Amino acid sequence: MNAFIQGLPKVELHLHIEGSLEPELLFTLAQRNNINLPYSSPEALRKAYEFDDLQSFLDIYYQGANALITEQDFYDLTWAYLQRCHSDKVMHTEIFFDPQTHTERGIAFDTVINGIYRALQDGQHKLAISSHIIMCFLRHLSEESAIDTLKRALDHKDKIIGVGLDSSEQGHPPKKFQNVFTQARDEGFLTVAHAGEEGPAQNIVDAIDILGVSRVDHGVRCVDSPELLDSLVESQMPLTVCPLSNIKLRVFDDMSQHNIVELLRRGVAVTINSDDPAYFGGYMTDNFQAVSAAHAMTYNELAQFTLNAIDASFIDPSLKHEYRRRVEEYLGKSI
Ligand code: HPA
Ligand code: ZN
Repeated sequence: MNAFIQGLPKVELHLHIEGSLEPELLFTLAQRNNINLPYSSPEALRKAYEFDDLQSFLDIYYQGANALITEQDFYDLTWAYLQRCHSDKVMHTEIFFDPQTHTERGIAFDTVINGIYRALQDGQHKLAISSHIIMCFLRHLSEESAIDTLKRALDHKDKIIGVGLDSSEQGHPPKKFQNVFTQARDEGFLTVAHAGEEGPAQNIVDAIDILGVSRVDHGVRCVDSPELLDSLVESQMPLTVCPLSNIKLRVFDDMSQHNIVELLRRGVAVTINSDDPAYFGGYMTDNFQAVSAAHAMTYNELAQFTLNAIDASFIDPSLKHEYRRRVEEYLGKSI
């Protein structure tokens, strides 16, 4: 089973590029940029990655992002992630970035996006990995700040396919961002939002109805509402589920309690993703393996996660067709 998972072609739809900053690279960047870290070594930092909930993670995650200063830093961060994608057989990835985390501390929007974009272009040319960029608004900040960020993104419309919503879900419901999401859609951006990770099922309903999302990020609390569950099956609204993240942030007690396989079997369009792999203990293959170790699944079920992700992705129909063909070819060889 592990060999099947390792070789399975994959598509990632929920990855915060700042969350792929490994302690070793963080130390390299801190040294390069003359930043003092309150840890003696990458190992000591890794030991601090014990979280009680989303907020305790976010505090450490924003601290880590402070080491990112130059365009080259953002390039190196993204390039390191793409190399992991390459070993994990990821054909396509749609990555989030949090511009406000950087602009709030004086880093130019252009510095961030240009570094990430240049690495993704190299990923396409040198590793044959296709990609899109999604810009997330931080929901603990105001809607005015999100509107200001949207304005800065207009010069980079060619590089950014959509907007999303991340950070602290509790106390910051989708409705707070209704206006900026309407403006983003009017400008031609696709929309996604984190909802139903720690927050209630109603946030999933509101992300769909008020923010007009094409996908729901996380969404695992949908099981609290039977009507919502039925409508997700009916509409085939995709959920970008992040299994290792959910365990690390204590959304579920352990992987055997996770509902992703139950949702798959109910016919919900669930996908497997890594969220913040440097902090949560694993990239795409690790996430597939952790789910499979806790829930017996067939090859077809495992491949269904990739087929769901291909359908849910923002790639054009001909490339979707080619990626589906690769999964089917792999299944044909494996069975
Ligand atoms: N949830 C909310 N915000 C985030 C996450 C997450 O899992 N990762 C990075 N920002
Ligand atoms: Zn996330």
